[in-house]
Amino acid sequence: MRTTNAVDLGDPDLYTTLERHARWRQLALEDAMVWSEPGSSPTGFWSVFSHQACAAVLAPSAPFTSEYGMMIGFDRDNPDKSGGRMMVVSEQEQHRKLRKLVGPLLSRAAARRLSERVRTEVRGVLDRVLDGEVCDVAAAIGPRIPAAVVCEILGVPAEDEDMLIDLTNHAFGGEDELFDGMTPRQAHTEILVYFDELISARRASPGDDLVSTLLTDDELTVDDVVLNCDNVLIGGNETTRHAITGAVHAFATVPGLLEHVREGSADVDTVVDEVLRWTSPAMHVLRVSTGEVTVNGRDLPPGTPVVAWLPAANRDPAVFDDPDTFRPGRKPNRHITFGHGMHHCLGSALARIELAVVLREVAERVSKVELVKEPAWLRAVVVQGYRELQVRFTRR
Ligand code: HEM
Repeated sequence: MRTTNAVDLGDPDLYTTLERHARWRQLALEDAMVWSEPGSSPTGFWSVFSHQACAAVLAPSAPFTSEYGMMIGFDRDNPDKSGGRMMVVSEQEQHRKLRKLVGPLLSRAAARRLSERVRTEVRGVLDRVLDGEVCDVAAAIGPRIPAAVVCEILGVPAEDEDMLIDLTNHAFGGEDELFDGMTPRQAHTEILVYFDELISARRASPGDDLVSTLLTDDELTVDDVVLNCDNVLIGGNETTRHAITGAVHAFATVPGLLEHVREGSADVDTVVDEVLRWTSPAMHVLRVSTGEVTVNGRDLPPGTPVVAWLPAANRDPAVFDDPDTFRPGRKPNRHITFGHGMHHCLGSALARIELAVVLREVAERVSKVELVKEPAWLRAVVVQGYRELQVRFTRR
């Protein structure tokens, strides 16, 4: 174990090139523990990188909480206002209750029921982009599918869907373009306002959607319902779109993958897990210690923030052979792309189905995916994602 006090690892400029992987690999190999002084996070934070250390911090029995916030930016004096109310930043009774309420809507069975909708969406998207022109997958494919799926889960009426998908795309689709003169933050606010209207509509006429389900709990306020719809909206969109974009990136760069998926010689579920490991879209999760705890041999007092870097753990050479290489048949594949422990992603079955459908449909409809230029990466610390992925598809 090495302890360093080097740089502010919350600086998004550190993650815009593939050099990030070399840095993370070194830190994982050394089982390093790095302190970042107050800067990107007003309180400062420790970081761990190895698979073992990340899993230990996130383990159900570890004395850590996410109730004060689960991202870099954590400020001890101004804890996350959604803490104790929104699922991903709540604990114990509230967390158990929310998982129990929302879980059935995102379960494997629910995901299977949604797969036909996913297929229709993927086919529609492919119809639009298979025109021989250069396609920016990060804009034209990645965001579209998760947005449609989340609308379905939320119970957005058909007549509002296009508007909400556009707003969602815009809220999570990058900083560059303006949509109806709105910034991404304004688009997100617009969605929250829409949730208020949706709640009134569902109160009057309940269905089997997420909003109606949350409304069945009398203890949840309207704000709680909005916050938890937002949790699913953000959880479902921000990450999945990059994994989907990464699946197309893999088709463009892994020899034979397209043919193997099409002919059935590659097991699609195994390929999906490798896409998840290789893309690892959730870049970090933060926890705050609730008691004295020893991490990587270092004693930490209560109230200490520790960040687990998931893409570093997912390419830890101690756990994954040849970790930078995309191996379609990699097994076992103990990635922690969906986190680990109590907050393990509730939408993982759905994300897996979305990816499996994308892989199958692209393989079915396309004979070649050519990378037009190297991908550009987001300047971000919350997600590891594509800013742009330009490819040219050849139709079959
Ligand atoms: C939690 C990643 C897709 C909904 C999480 C966590 C991670 C994660 C790392 C744990 C956060 C923590 O420990 O603090 C991902 C990735 C996805 C994905 C990489 C896609 C590739 C989805 C989808 C949905 C979703 C499709 C819903 C439509 C949630 C929810 C939680 C969560 C509700 C909170 C669970 C809890 O606190 O118990 N996700 N997610 N996610 N995710 Fe996902």
